[in-house]
Amino acid sequence: MVQTGKTPPPPYLNIDPAEAAKKLSDGINTARFAKAATFAAKGRDDLARRGYAPDGRKHLRKFSTWEVCRYLIPVATAHFRRVLKTHEDLPQGTGDGGTKWFTLDEVMRLRAHFATEGVATREYRPYRPKGVPAKVLAVANFKGGVGKTSTAAHLAMSAALDGYRVLVIDLDSQGSMTSIMGGQVADEWMTAFPLLAKHYALHLQSENAVRAAAGQPPLPLDETLTEALTFEARQVIQPTHWPNIDLIGAQLNLYWAEFQVPVWRMQSGNWPLWDALTGFLDSERLLDEYDIIILDTPPALGYLTINALAAADILLVPLGASFLEFDSTGRFFDMLYSTFASIEDGENASRRRDGLPEMRFEWDAVRALITRFDAAQQTDLANVIQAYFGDFMTTYRQDFTAMVGQAGEQVSGIYEADYRGFNRDTYVRGRETFDRTWAEVKEILLGIWWRDAQMAETDAQKEA
Ligand SMILES: Nc1ncnc2c1ncn2[C@@H]1O[C@H](COP(=O)(O)OP(=O)(O)O)[C@@H](O)[C@H]1O
Ligand SMILES: [Mg+2]
Repeated sequence: MVQTGKTPPPPYLNIDPAEAAKKLSDGINTARFAKAATFAAKGRDDLARRGYAPDGRKHLRKFSTWEVCRYLIPVATAHFRRVLKTHEDLPQGTGDGGTKWFTLDEVMRLRAHFATEGVATREYRPYRPKGVPAKVLAVANFKGGVGKTSTAAHLAMSAALDGYRVLVIDLDSQGSMTSIMGGQVADEWMTAFPLLAKHYALHLQSENAVRAAAGQPPLPLDETLTEALTFEARQVIQPTHWPNIDLIGAQLNLYWAEFQVPVWRMQSGNWPLWDALTGFLDSERLLDEYDIIILDTPPALGYLTINALAAADILLVPLGASFLEFDSTGRFFDMLYSTFASIEDGENASRRRDGLPEMRFEWDAVRALITRFDAAQQTDLANVIQAYFGDFMTTYRQDFTAMVGQAGEQVSGIYEADYRGFNRDTYVRGRETFDRTWAEVKEILLGIWWRDAQMAETDAQKEA
């Protein structure tokens, strides 16, 4: 071995400024970004041709006899097999040997069979009282990376596995939820943007009617607003690879809404900008069509998040058990308070002027949820956080599980991953952490539905 005896100096010393200047290009202008984007687009196509990109469509895996009996339909495996044998018309599953594989559609047909023929005391079908609307659940925190999207996506999938009809609305222009759901979004007209635009356009129309009566000139409806007036829900709602999950997707252009909304509000100061999503869910009858509507939000308290929060019945605020995340979540609640209190104040001042009843925002339930929890390191801190948030916090802490990240490009999260790729114990534990989050949210949901149904009954009796 040759020993020079000289250790080279560290790389950041002895840099020659003149040589460094030679390596620089001329000043960068915006055209250079356009060029980089064009190159990246070419590179993307190249990579896709070489098989790096998914084929664009996701496919949901099948579920084995073990999974069906363990997680989806509460029957013993032997009994399940016997029932299939005696009912040839039921889905028989595919695959050789004892284990058969079923699509989720087939699982739902099997579940319907057990619900009508099986033991009456077992819960085959999930509870949803008749005549009460779907519940809207928003997942929000102005901090990024706290597990909003993972929590929202896993909740959507566990609700779907339970047999609920789920609509997922991605309000984050980064579109992570949209990729998880395999959504295709060409431009902002395939996102929540047109429903905001339509809400404003309808508001302008009624405002113009008032102006006309007062002999004032109308406020103009530009091209976007005119187009938005013809917009219908089915233009933005797309099916996903999950038979009972639909999606309103997002992509970068949705961010435009954050600039457009304040401009509209300037134009017409009495437009209730927080009401667009609520109005849309209501007027398009989506609260009848689905059981649960899950809203994933961007890491900011912008106009899209405000709309999501105003539409929500249940608000989940994920945070990690760390000082910084606790601190910023506390401030998030403070911002929620000041934002919504100031909307109420402004609105009620004008309502009092017009002799209308006052309004107040109200949520059925709000829960902070500890995510990515490491019991060995974070128990003390989590206990302190729990003590301060009290009943504002779920009792279950969602464990950190490497399985979330390991799932891969085509497969997102625990429920899409094939358990055969993991050690069985690892799988069972990883899955349990999201099952328990769902169990706690589901308990809240059922409680609210039950309460709503009781109230509807009491109201009906009063009227009778
Ligand atoms: N329970 C969990 N265990 C391990 N990693 C997780 C868990 N929940 C989320 N993550 C990871 O943390 C990161 C941020 O999560 P994400 O849901 O995208 O947060 P947000 O939507 O708040 O920005 C992602 O890489 C995700 O895979
Ligand atoms: Mg996210």
